[in-house]
Amino acid sequence: MSQPQAIIFDLDGVLTDTSEYHYQAWKHLADDEGISLTHEENDEHLRGVGRRESLMYIIRGHQYSEDQIQEMMERKNRYYHALIERMTPKEIVPGGVALLEEIKSAGIKVAIASASKNCRLVLDRLQLTSYFDGIADGNCVVNGKPAPDIFVYAAGLVNVFTPNCIGVEDADAGIQAIKAAGMKAVAIGPASRFHGPDKVLPNMENKHLKDLLVE
Ligand code: BG6
Ligand code: MG
Repeated sequence: MSQPQAIIFDLDGVLTDTSEYHYQAWKHLADDEGISLTHEENDEHLRGVGRRESLMYIIRGHQYSEDQIQEMMERKNRYYHALIERMTPKEIVPGGVALLEEIKSAGIKVAIASASKNCRLVLDRLQLTSYFDGIADGNCVVNGKPAPDIFVYAAGLVNVFTPNCIGVEDADAGIQAIKAAGMKAVAIGPASRFHGPDKVLPNMENKHLKDLLVE
């Protein structure tokens, strides 16, 4: 692929460090319940994974009713809201706005594919909503990452065939989703976290369009 027709970004942990806020909110809940949860477990089992699947990992081996599960998901979301309601555009990754502007001026569509139901809230807090030609979030598709659905949906929003898209992700579940969607995958984070991305960048700071391009 010389130049993609669309670049589709994950949000949490890519354009902003909300993956840390998700961890803190889950940690708060796990502490309430007397269950241990470490940063390492978060990276390995929760990063990029949906709300219910994340809770199922945390409470594995414990007995809870469906009502208790629903209450815990709501409680975690309240803890998460308390963290994100204070967010400002200062929490966009350094160089993030310049990168989005560079991509748009190159005539490439920009979209979001996030598993989060809070995606639009975070984009609004960051004042980023208007930069995107399409936003696919946790309310759009039933099957979460690693299923390809959210990336395919995002490609549809910007009218681009999936092989002409690059997906950008900080979670291995997301890299698997991008590859299953037939896109090129750019991974953000330590190479040891990922299986089979087309490119790995250690972080998203001050990146340019050329950094995201894949052969
Ligand atoms: C993903 C995050 O983007 O969204 C996960 O990486 C999170 O940590 C998932 O669990 C679902 O988010 P929410 O806001 O719908 O609970
Ligand atoms: Mg992410």
